[in-house]
Amino acid sequence: MSRQIEILPSILSADMARFGEEIERVKQGGARVIHVDVMDGHFVPNISIGPPVVKSLRRATDLLLDVHLMIENPDLYIPEFIAAGADVVTVHQEACRHLDRTISLMRASGTEAGVAINPATPVETLSEILPLVDMVLIMSVNPGFGGQKFIPYTLDKVRQLDRKRQERGLDFRIEIDGGLTPDNVADAIRAGVDWVVAGNSVYGSPDPASRVQLMSRLAQEAMLTRA
Ligand code: DX5
Ligand code: ZN
Repeated sequence: MSRQIEILPSILSADMARFGEEIERVKQGGARVIHVDVMDGHFVPNISIGPPVVKSLRRATDLLLDVHLMIENPDLYIPEFIAAGADVVTVHQEACRHLDRTISLMRASGTEAGVAINPATPVETLSEILPLVDMVLIMSVNPGFGGQKFIPYTLDKVRQLDRKRQERGLDFRIEIDGGLTPDNVADAIRAGVDWVVAGNSVYGSPDPASRVQLMSRLAQEAMLTRA
């Protein structure tokens, strides 16, 4: 997978009884990657879905599945998510005592490896492992729920990360997740974001396909003015 700009609908905000149709709707709008939020009630104060659901999603769509693990002890579950059909698996730095080992585990299986940091976690904590990851996810809300308000200072973290990426000649993607809307997507892209997750602003809209189209257009336009 490349660093091409993508809008990723987050199915946490979709109707969970109709995942197949909900994915089809955003596919019509041009979505190519679906963001799947996995929550365990420990790392975050909410519970969502697990490997059996990812397996069903895999059967229901040919779109890429970007699996965001907001769980403790991810090493225990990564093999199951990979077997279920995840294309990208992202763990939280805060949940990994041995992050290097966790990333190696993912990469050994051929699945793309991402690492996420919460708003209050400094970018500096990822310095050593940046050459080993395919993606860094900057959380722009405190994880756990869809529909929260974007935290503006997280864009400074995106800029820092983008600078490091350029200085060190690295090619990982930068993803942002939480509170993204048509109003702030351009700022995120200009700061250095490649993949934009959008839950409530896509599935909370009466027409999710046009919402994906609109956010993609705004993102592409912002890309033209990115430094
Ligand atoms: C938050 C999740 C997000 C969430 C985003 O904990 O990781 O992926 O679905 O939803 P919105 O776009 O509504 O903030
Ligand atoms: Zn997420």
